[in-house]
Amino acid sequence: MSKTFLKALKGEPQTTPPIWLMRQAGRYLPEYLKVRATSKNFLHFCYSPGLAVEATLQPLRRYDFDAAILFSDILVVPDALGQKVEFVSGKGPQLEPIKNMAELESTLSTENFMSHLDPVFQTVNRLSSEIPDSTALIGFSGAPWTVATYMVEGKGSKTYEEIRSIAYQDPEFFQTLIDMLVDNTSKYLIEQVNRGAEALQVFDSWAGVLSENQFIKWAIEPMAKIVENVKSVHPDTPIIGFPRGAGQLYERYVKETGIDAVGLDHTVPLEWARDHLQQHVCVQGNLDNLLVVAGGEALDQEARRIIDILGEGPFVFNMGHGIVPQTPPEHVARLVDVVRGKA
Ligand code: CP3
Repeated sequence: MSKTFLKALKGEPQTTPPIWLMRQAGRYLPEYLKVRATSKNFLHFCYSPGLAVEATLQPLRRYDFDAAILFSDILVVPDALGQKVEFVSGKGPQLEPIKNMAELESTLSTENFMSHLDPVFQTVNRLSSEIPDSTALIGFSGAPWTVATYMVEGKGSKTYEEIRSIAYQDPEFFQTLIDMLVDNTSKYLIEQVNRGAEALQVFDSWAGVLSENQFIKWAIEPMAKIVENVKSVHPDTPIIGFPRGAGQLYERYVKETGIDAVGLDHTVPLEWARDHLQQHVCVQGNLDNLLVVAGGEALDQEARRIIDILGEGPFVFNMGHGIVPQTPPEHVARLVDVVRGKA
């Protein structure tokens, strides 16, 4: 195993930290906008292996990244379970919401789940032979809680009041939904590894809105089960958990889920992460994505500060959340040079 990214995830510190960036493919790249324009519907784009392979490879042609992330979306899972999912431009994802057991039973079915996702598996397959030898291929999914927020609220939310209320008021329904996501997400991730993914990341982008008890029940417990399921088939495939916004609960998440590496959002203090998390797992992060929009000396300084504090232990350089569309591509190039020690 000569890929430095995989070695870091397995706990080996590297002299120069490996780097990739969440949402490294996408709308900040003019070449992405060009291929994206050939397809009206975003899900259709995700299910077209030729287009998805191209979108995955585009950032690698510009930047010397250590890993490529499969081009797809976390919402292919509810789509494959039979829920109506649409991406409306300017409005984000729109789903026909599922708010109780009757709606779950009449809408969701696992029958065609894996066959529906076959185009994604074909993309993974093609990527595993097309990406450069030194680059690792990351498969991914959303975590059950984060995917459920879209399934129940029917769209992105700011407060998550509705889903948090339902989780308290109708725990039987909510547990059934989460269990269904745990089982199917596990199968989805296992198949990505069967087809050539070398590491997995599970995005719990909205974990930070949960109370302590809800975080244990809806973020830690489902993730621990997914990790157990995947590891029972693929014990050596590293798994990165990203419970964005978890604050001090990062520590329990790291100790209780069985993950190999943890993604830190930009609010996590670096010395705390070094002392409380990095002794257990590899850490990944956590440059503020808006600093990459701003660029300049402040970007260089913060990238170097992160490496100074975390670079001694197992570490992967990344941001605290995904690249935003207004990011100038040349700021990403500069960041890679700084991390590589070439600037
Ligand atoms: O390089 C990559 O990471 C590309 C693959 C990828 C996408 N989405 C492509 C995408 C990945 C890993 C995701 C994950 C994802 N999707 C998350 C978790 C990570 C995070 O950012 O928190 C979430 C919450 C989603 C759900 C989602 N998908 C939303 C809310 C939206 C609309 C808002 C937005 O950012 O546009 C999407 C659409 C989406 N997913 C786009 C891309 C490139 C833009 C759609 C387009 O090009 O028309």
